[in-house]
Amino acid sequence: MKTLHLILLVLPVIFYYLDALLPKGYIFDPVKLQELSKISIETGNGNTTQVMSNLVALLQEEYGSQHVNGMEMDKWFFNNAGGAMGSMLILHASISEYLILFGTPLGTEGHSGVHLAHDYFTILSGEQMRLAPGEIEPTVFRPGDQNYLPRGEATQYVLNGWALELAQGWIPSMLPFGFLDTFTSTLDFYNLWKTVYLTGVNMVGQLLIGKI
Ligand SMILES: *[C@@H]1O[C@H](CO)[C@@H](O)[C@H](O)[C@H]1NC(C)=O
Repeated sequence: MKTLHLILLVLPVIFYYLDALLPKGYIFDPVKLQELSKISIETGNGNTTQVMSNLVALLQEEYGSQHVNGMEMDKWFFNNAGGAMGSMLILHASISEYLILFGTPLGTEGHSGVHLAHDYFTILSGEQMRLAPGEIEPTVFRPGDQNYLPRGEATQYVLNGWALELAQGWIPSMLPFGFLDTFTSTLDFYNLWKTVYLTGVNMVGQLLIGKI
């Protein structure tokens, strides 16, 4: 009993300590990401494939190709979460950050999820609309705009296009949101395997070069 009390007392302290330490692991800067996105949109000239490949090249230049994957077409997979569906490519995944290309030109709608991470969603093409409870009119984000969702908050959103998404916080805690629709809805286990495998490979790869 005494041991249990001690554990219950110590655990939150450890969490607060690690939580305060986590931002030291961050390498990506949301302001820089928005700036590079705007350049890529400009030079991509309305061709979204070109916008993405320009952006990935700029990201690799800025952050190093040891931290940013290339545009490998066979590494894309579906993501079903919160009622929304899109496809995504992991550019970076570690314990404290992920950077992905995410979206669909077909349009999708859903719940953002409630996460232990800040989220910066920079539109590359198309449009995103966001609604928080109590708001009557949606907030609209267009190419070059950045939608910031603070840790712990949630919104409804509609996305019809593509975005560069940065999450900073406890990335492993976000994964169940990305996985669970496989069991309750899609039963797409190949896609789940691809998601888990690629996330794992990236996280372990980053840990091995000292990036948390
Ligand atoms: C868009 O860019 C890609 C990559 O450079 C190219 O393969 C494709 O043909 C372009 N599409 C159009 C419609 O120009």
